[in-house]
Amino acid sequence: DADGPLAGKRILVTAGPTVEPIDPVRYIANRSSGKQGYAIAAALRNLGADVILVTGPTHEHIPAGIETSRVDTAREMMTASQSALPVDCAIFCAAVADYRPAIETTHKIKKERGGLTDLPLTENPDILKSIAQLKDGRPQLVVGFAAETDDVLGHAEAKMKRKGCDWIVANDVSPGASCAMGGSRNTVILITDQGDETWPEMSKDDVARGLAERIAKTLSKPKIV
Ligand code: C5P
Repeated sequence: DADGPLAGKRILVTAGPTVEPIDPVRYIANRSSGKQGYAIAAALRNLGADVILVTGPTHEHIPAGIETSRVDTAREMMTASQSALPVDCAIFCAAVADYRPAIETTHKIKKERGGLTDLPLTENPDILKSIAQLKDGRPQLVVGFAAETDDVLGHAEAKMKRKGCDWIVANDVSPGASCAMGGSRNTVILITDQGDETWPEMSKDDVARGLAERIAKTLSKPKIV
């Protein structure tokens, strides 16, 4: 919608898991479905934003009218996110693997040759942190996600400080919580500089619409210089 409240705003959304190869046939991955990130990308587009979606492998359909970059690894997600800059707002919904195998082999690891009993890991770059802490060209609004299993609010507030983002959308992913990864519903706590709000359980599409509206309100406020 070219007349929507986000018309003319460029917004980066990362979504889905990253997959980190061990050898040509094996990888490390996680349970992220990409549903929440794709829903956010679509909701922002519906309000008129130019959305750039950087996505790990998922089974979700790419929403129409959204520039999409498909990646596998965290390092590829980092490069694709950086090349999307400058943006007015960046939302980091992806479940990025914290670690990747330190050595990637180009041949299949064979059990007969000693196999795979040890897997040395090395840390992946933190995409959210690096973009939130940019000195030049930082997006006006940087939003991170926090999937936690205990002390959701405490961990999320600490994460916001550590990463340097403006908002955190926190959710409880402990088994039995209403938003188990892969499901279509979510219960979130939105933490902003105004404090924290617990939203009632709702569909991921409704969470996305709610966030998109908040983002539209925030970006339309005149910048204080
Ligand atoms: O530290 P943790 O992984 O829990 O932080 C989650 C937030 O940071 C999410 O917004 C996620 O997309 C982002 N993140 C990232 N790059 C990483 C790790 C996390 O952008 N390497």
